[in-house]
Amino acid sequence: MIDKLETLSDTLQRAARAAGDILREGYHAAGTIEFDRKGASDFVSHYDRAAEQAIIDTIRLAHPEVGFLGEESGITPAGDSDLRVVIDPLDGTNNFLHKVPHFSVSIALERGEELLMGVVYQPLLDEMLWAVHGRGAFLGDQRLRLPPARPLNEMLVGTCLPYHGKGECQLSCRQLAHIMPQVSGIRSPGSAALEVAYVALGRFDAFWSQGAKLEWWDIAAGIIIAREAGCKVTDLSGNSTPREWHSLLVAHPDRHGPLAECLTH
Ligand code: IPD
Ligand code: CA
Ligand code: CA
Ligand code: CA
Repeated sequence: MIDKLETLSDTLQRAARAAGDILREGYHAAGTIEFDRKGASDFVSHYDRAAEQAIIDTIRLAHPEVGFLGEESGITPAGDSDLRVVIDPLDGTNNFLHKVPHFSVSIALERGEELLMGVVYQPLLDEMLWAVHGRGAFLGDQRLRLPPARPLNEMLVGTCLPYHGKGECQLSCRQLAHIMPQVSGIRSPGSAALEVAYVALGRFDAFWSQGAKLEWWDIAAGIIIAREAGCKVTDLSGNSTPREWHSLLVAHPDRHGPLAECLTH
């Protein structure tokens, strides 16, 4: 299985690069980017769809047996396997449409409830974050190891905030009121997959989300990258394998408890 995992990991990274090429082209194209509206503030462009198709085509060519769950194309059942690829072809569409240079491609591979690997790719920086279950997390070919935990009052913490038509604003405001006075800064840059993976990189000291109602394709790849780097990843009830992720807290194991207490106060 190790050999097959290596091949799959290479394929997922190739697929992320293929999507990244499309997104980079869209980002640098002149003029505004056309979009359709899927929900109150949930947008989709030609580039989201083309990136997802490129990912599926790349993976299917090498591994015709796998199934897919894609944000834009939904469920494609697996062929002769129990493997499923979970795709967010463009995480941070709203940033992308506004030409804010913070978005990513997120691809995870799962077998049943078990996450096997994840890739989060930032096309504009050409940063490939990836992890394979039991084999560690990497930035390119550099192994990621979580830096020592900072004191709470030096922590920079990422989150996703609810927005028009999506999420529970009052809950997020309550959590912010509790956590803001305790940490050194809160950031909500707008690509959940990247923000989770940033904890693995030590760029953020923690990430949480509850009010913003994240989907599985937003977080699956980031979760395995963060876990393999040494982060503790649970929902806000402390469950590390919930059936559905209604909330998420990713942090250094030494800081996870105090942050959970603060956010559920
Ligand atoms: C969104 C981003 C954003 C989060 C939203 C997601 P999309 O994904 O991850 O950071 O706050 O809840 O829907 O729609 O850009 O793929
Ligand atoms: Ca979306
Ligand atoms: Ca997303
Ligand atoms: Ca998306």
